[in-house]
Amino acid sequence: MLPRAALIHIVIIMALEELAEELKQAERAALATIAAAAGIAAIERARPVAMGKNSAMRGLLKRLGGLPAAERPQAGQIINQAQARVESAFEAKLAELREAEMARQIETQSVDVTLPGTHAKPGGLHPLTLTLIEIERIFTSMGYEIASGPDVETEHNNFDALNIKPDHPARDMHDTFYLDGGRILRTHTSPVQIRHMLAHKPPLAIIAPGRVYRVDDIDATHSPVFLQVEGLLIDRGVSMAQLKGTLTEFLHAIFGKELATRFRASYFPFTEPSAEVDVQCFVCRGPDPDCRICKGTGWLEVLGSGLVHPDVLRNVGIDPREFSGFAFGMGVERITMLRYGIPSIRLFYENDIRFLRQFA
Ligand code: DAH
Repeated sequence: MLPRAALIHIVIIMALEELAEELKQAERAALATIAAAAGIAAIERARPVAMGKNSAMRGLLKRLGGLPAAERPQAGQIINQAQARVESAFEAKLAELREAEMARQIETQSVDVTLPGTHAKPGGLHPLTLTLIEIERIFTSMGYEIASGPDVETEHNNFDALNIKPDHPARDMHDTFYLDGGRILRTHTSPVQIRHMLAHKPPLAIIAPGRVYRVDDIDATHSPVFLQVEGLLIDRGVSMAQLKGTLTEFLHAIFGKELATRFRASYFPFTEPSAEVDVQCFVCRGPDPDCRICKGTGWLEVLGSGLVHPDVLRNVGIDPREFSGFAFGMGVERITMLRYGIPSIRLFYENDIRFLRQFA
């Protein structure tokens, strides 16, 4: 029988050796798990098993307390060394897997910069916009300013102030969109004349492009929404001759000098005298009884105009004995159809890309 002190010593030596043996096994197992990880997800799953708080190796550290104090530093040291080997094996494997993943991505997601690109086709301006720009260019070059007014108008500005009496056919429910609260959608751009004369003292010269609305069925020449450009010039001693000169100049600029123009007596409540302006038919260029565009007349109407009625001037506080002026109004769709030979107003609003592309 061994003495008691010796017995205790043997037990302790056994314990240290046992720990070393367990440590070796734990390290081997951890290294094997790391080595077997086939991807980043797998190695991340191996992290807690190999070196987490509850790993086998960390478990061994907790058992150091069971060793005599003299043995503990040595035991702690070998555990820490083993742990360090496992950690560096882990980091090395992780780096290797990341590199492999990167290589794989570069391989599979490579971009062939020599392939032809997909071209974005540049857009173009709408033919109505092109015409508006041209109209504005012509008139601003003559010294006109561009004014605007709201689409939602009062009956006063749209009708009464322009001398359109309550019994005038244009005020019929069938022509005008009436809104709640007594407002309407303007049926022409002429109310901008009123607004501008109320806000500015003459002399003045403006054009006012904008949208107008009429209760109308859609056909080749009608749309319930369309564009007009209004013109107004007020000064001292303005005559019909100046109106004629200005509009002839404009028509030559927009349609070219080859097409003849004519002024024809007409009637508008807000002008006196009034004239409508026709351009020679761009299709038949003369009275051709079979021409469908001008219906055999040889002429196409493009403008309404006249000298501003003295009552209209009085309505906005301008003295007609001191000032006179002329006004005109035109439909932008009509002018655009004539400029480009477009057969139907519908084409402007259907936005068929094959149509629009021709103007890009
Ligand atoms: N406002 C008229 C319309 O919509 C067009 C017009 C005619 C405007 C003669 C004018 C003008 O300024 O003098 O039919």
